[in-house]
Amino acid sequence: MPGGFSGKALFSRVCFSSTHCLPILVIAFIAACGDSGSGTRVTTPGSTPEPTPDPGPLFSTAEELGESLFFDTNLSLNRTQACATCHDPERAFTDSRLDPNGLPPAFSVGDDGFSQVSRNVPTAAYASSTPAFQFGSHVRFNSQQPDYEGYLGGQFLDGRATDLESQAKGPPLGALEMGMPDEASVVERLQENPDYVKSFKAIYGDEVFDDVDAAYDAMAGSIAAFERTDFFSSFDSKYDKSLTGDYVYAPDSKAALGKALFFSQQFTNCATCHQLAANGNRSEVFTNFEYHNIGTPVNVEARIAGNISLDDLDEGLFGHPDVDDPAQMGKYRVPTLRNVAVTGPYMNNGVFRKLDTVIRFYDQFLTGSDNFLNPETGAPWREPPFPNTMSLVELEDGGKLSESDIEGLVCFLLTLTDERYEPLIEEDSLVCD
Ligand code: HEC
Ligand code: HEC
Repeated sequence: MPGGFSGKALFSRVCFSSTHCLPILVIAFIAACGDSGSGTRVTTPGSTPEPTPDPGPLFSTAEELGESLFFDTNLSLNRTQACATCHDPERAFTDSRLDPNGLPPAFSVGDDGFSQVSRNVPTAAYASSTPAFQFGSHVRFNSQQPDYEGYLGGQFLDGRATDLESQAKGPPLGALEMGMPDEASVVERLQENPDYVKSFKAIYGDEVFDDVDAAYDAMAGSIAAFERTDFFSSFDSKYDKSLTGDYVYAPDSKAALGKALFFSQQFTNCATCHQLAANGNRSEVFTNFEYHNIGTPVNVEARIAGNISLDDLDEGLFGHPDVDDPAQMGKYRVPTLRNVAVTGPYMNNGVFRKLDTVIRFYDQFLTGSDNFLNPETGAPWREPPFPNTMSLVELEDGGKLSESDIEGLVCFLLTLTDERYEPLIEEDSLVCD
């Protein structure tokens, strides 16, 4: 998947929504007019042929340039990795490579062929909805809990990049990711490509390459602009269609039960953390961007397989350079649930493979729960790495789930899949209708 595409070819290949296609169609139309114009021109014998007009830069907008950069493996040291290697649009912008067991990886291998970041790749889809990192407050919906005050938003699971622009500056220089030594060497790579040089200058000014910082900022700005297009956020799942009347949850279906449970104030606590706006809002992203420690156990197997120390715990939000409050230890930004059916494994470290397991994990916190065991291992849930900072008030709120409630919630989550990823929903997942 990564590399090998020219921006234009890819654009036509991946153009799913009509709005995203529009600029391309316009370009094609103008080009067609130009052709027919020159075709009718009469050339007198002996006259000098007109010079071919400058076709202009290959990428005329920041979005188009960013698209090409997103797929460009030349931004990594050994030229093996692009953003799209770990954020493959064919798999809802997560890693589509398989681990040695033939499963989607908990941790992704970097450009050196062996290093691994000890976090599961989050989807880059809908990441543009995440607000800048801040300390603030948030009104909760369908929750028995008071409104939230605390850290919110930011890119990465610990919010350490405030927005998409600053996020995009990270991976090319990440030793465990794309491995480039410094910004100057990335900018040199950009300048190897004459189409980039021309396009950067056209979009960001002729002087853009005179200053490494300016060029590096322009690169990150283009990638962020591409990530803000509706190619990343199509809002066309069954859930979205139900809001416009283009899909109806069959009243007796498991998904309808799950939807009712998910949005209920009384029966589940999901909405406390995974609902952003009032019911029926068209831009619901199923996270309110709060930070919580829900007690996700360490992924011991993946750490051993990746040669990562078991002692060096992931401190979550406490690892953010501006956060020095130990109460933030082990908290992660609540992830979006859009496309969650196709982006496993789950949690910050990919410790759970199935949605059913995730729901049973939540159920263990509820009075009377029968879910003492992790169904994937048959063993009791492992201890949380940071038991003292867990959001127990929120987690213990609600009634224990029945088997049909669990199925219903999983079925509802499947309906949050963008239309183009519906075929990826596993065949063996339960029958929901
Ligand atoms: C080797 C795999 C890998 C590569 C290559 C990679 N990423 Fe990521 N990406 C990750 C991981 C892992 C995280 C989570 C890291 C963390 O939270 O500390 C992440 C996080 C992100 C996020 C934040 C999502 C969120 O919900 O907070 C965005 C956006 C993103 N990457 C975009 C990019 C872009 C743009 C590039 C190319 C410049 C890129 N990534 C290259 C693995 C990768
Ligand atoms: C206290 C806040 C909170 C509550 C309540 C909550 N979640 Fe979560 N949810 C989170 C956080 C935080 C994570 C990420 C945890 C991690 O990475 O360790 C998460 C992760 C998930 C994931 C995995 C997503 C992924 O991409 O890895 C799913 C699925 C999920 N929650 C569904 C639910 C459902 C369904 C409910 C209700 C039964 C629920 N959550 C209740 C905060 C919450």
